[in-house]
Amino acid sequence: MAREDFEIRPLCRAFGAELIGVDLSQPVDDALYGRIHAAFLEHQLLLLRGQDLPPANQVALGRRFGEVQVHVMNQYHADGFPELYFLSNLDDQGRPSGKHPDKGTLAWHTDGSWRRVTGQATILYGVEVPSEGGETHFCDMYGAYDALSSTMKERLEGVRAIHNLDFSRSRRHGEDPMTEAQKREVPPVDHPVIRTHPETGRKCVFLGDHAESIAELGYDEGRRLVEEVNAQAVRPERTYRHRWRPGDLVIWDNRCLIHRSTPYDTALERRVMRRCTILGEVPH
Ligand SMILES: [Fe+2]
Repeated sequence: MAREDFEIRPLCRAFGAELIGVDLSQPVDDALYGRIHAAFLEHQLLLLRGQDLPPANQVALGRRFGEVQVHVMNQYHADGFPELYFLSNLDDQGRPSGKHPDKGTLAWHTDGSWRRVTGQATILYGVEVPSEGGETHFCDMYGAYDALSSTMKERLEGVRAIHNLDFSRSRRHGEDPMTEAQKREVPPVDHPVIRTHPETGRKCVFLGDHAESIAELGYDEGRRLVEEVNAQAVRPERTYRHRWRPGDLVIWDNRCLIHRSTPYDTALERRVMRRCTILGEVPH
C-alpha cells in the first residue's frame, strides 16, 4: 500500500473523518499531504489516532498547510518551538496545579478570529489526557448558515462583527489581564458575520466567543445579535464531541467550525496538549 493510501471513516453525520493508516512519525510527502488536505476540505475535521508526533513533526505538518502562528501570549510557548502553543495544567514539578491553563477555550470560539488574518487550521495533539472531561467539541458552521431563516440570512448579509481577544479573555473569563503591549499588538478587528470559505466557496457563520459587538449597530443591540446567532449556531445534530486518547491528533478547519473544550479536574487530572495554528486569510 502506498503511503498516501489510507482509509477515511466518517466521525458523525454532519462532518469529521478518522484517517486510518497514516503514520506521522515519518515526513509527509506531497502525495500524502495532497490527500490529507483534500480530506480536510471535504470533512472539515480529521482525526488520526495513535500518533507518535515529535514537536518538530507537528510544526512541519503545520507548515504544509501554510504559515504557522506565533502566539502573542508568549507564556504558553512550548520549549524551543514558538509555533506551538502548549496547554498544560501541570506545575513546575510536573504535578496537576489545580489551575486551568486557558478558561477561554471553554467557550465556543474559532482560533485567531481576533486577528485580521484569522486561523485557517488548528493541529491539536494529545500528549496526556484526563480520564474524564477535557473533551473538545466542534460545531459545523456551514450547517449553522444553512439552518438560518431567510430573514436572518438577509439581516446578516454584509454585517460585520468586532472580534476582541481582550474582551473574550479578560472580561468574560476572568483570565489574567493582558499587558498593555499585548493589547496594542491585538486591537479589536472586524470580520463579516457570514463568510465565504476561500477554498470551498461555501458560506458559513463566522462568530464565536471572540465576537464582541456588531460594527453597524449600537453596543447593546449588537451584543444581543451576536448572542442570538451564536446560540442558534450550536445544535447537537451538527456537533462532534471528541474524547481524547493519548496520541490523538485532530486537525480542523477554523473557517467553518467553532469549538470549545469541556472542564476537567485540574487538581487531580493531567492534561497536556500541543497546539499549532496555521494562519489563513482575511475573511470575506
Ligand atoms: Fe481554540
